[in-house]
Amino acid sequence: LSASVIALGCSSAMAADLTVGFSQIGSESGWRAAETSVTKLEAEKRGIELKFADAQQKQENQIKAIRGFIAQGVDAILVAPVVATGWEDVLTEAKEAEIPVILLDRGVDAPQDLYLTSVASDQVKEGRVAGEWLVNTVGDKPCKVVELQGTVGSTPAINRKKGFEEAIAGKSNISIARSQTGDFTRAKGKEVMEGFLKAENGGKDICAMYAHNDDMAVGAIQAIKDAGLKPGTDILVVSIDAVPDIFAAMVAGEANATVELTPNMAGPAFDALDAFLKDGKQPEKFIITESKLYTPADNPQGEYDNRKGLGY
Ligand code: AHR
Repeated sequence: LSASVIALGCSSAMAADLTVGFSQIGSESGWRAAETSVTKLEAEKRGIELKFADAQQKQENQIKAIRGFIAQGVDAILVAPVVATGWEDVLTEAKEAEIPVILLDRGVDAPQDLYLTSVASDQVKEGRVAGEWLVNTVGDKPCKVVELQGTVGSTPAINRKKGFEEAIAGKSNISIARSQTGDFTRAKGKEVMEGFLKAENGGKDICAMYAHNDDMAVGAIQAIKDAGLKPGTDILVVSIDAVPDIFAAMVAGEANATVELTPNMAGPAFDALDAFLKDGKQPEKFIITESKLYTPADNPQGEYDNRKGLGY
């Protein structure tokens, strides 16, 4: 990006000149696919040239892609980090090359001066909102919960577990009986839930299933049905993301609650980048998106219709 364009402060001219690299995790979930589409659309809208790299769930591929972006001299880098650790070296290389890095939807365990800003939800809060919903729903009834965790070592898996545990901490009638990773995918969510059902008296001992994302919940719903039980009634279903398929499950009476995660992380990220490059304005270190609870009382058919086609 030329200094003269920065000095002119002309946002459209600046956008047209911008090249941004985006290291995406992969396409493990409906939410992830939507984030990819929305990011491409937001870039297009602003005339930004987006160089997209799909890491197929591997951190080593993300590191390789970021090094490639640095070598190409891009103006900025977006990265959705698959796990929290192991980023310090490559982020330092970007910093030394004076390329601002923006984290999308997940965090890293690295010094904060290695990235410009992080656009993500409050993932502990998401877990807490899900847990509070369960606490309010079951009251004083005994409730054995099974938990499907996200990708091991990722910040949403760590934080959504923490928040949920915080919410149920004072409730001796609610306990997490089993907890295992389903890697944020529908197929693994189904597979792990099948194991939980077998281990818990064919599912008859399970009161609720908490999944760290909707895709795993949708897989688990299928497993519950295959076991001859009614998801949403025999086993309560609560998860995170608010993708169209979970609203379809709510319409069918098979899911009870979800916490929304917007797929539009790129909009706020590009706004922050624009203000930084144009006016030297340092953005907030953490730009936090909303975490709204949806239940069948919140017009799930309408929410499905609103979202379908928006990149999902
Ligand atoms: O990091 C956000 C999480 O990653 C979403 O909740 C999940 O669906 C995705 O795979």
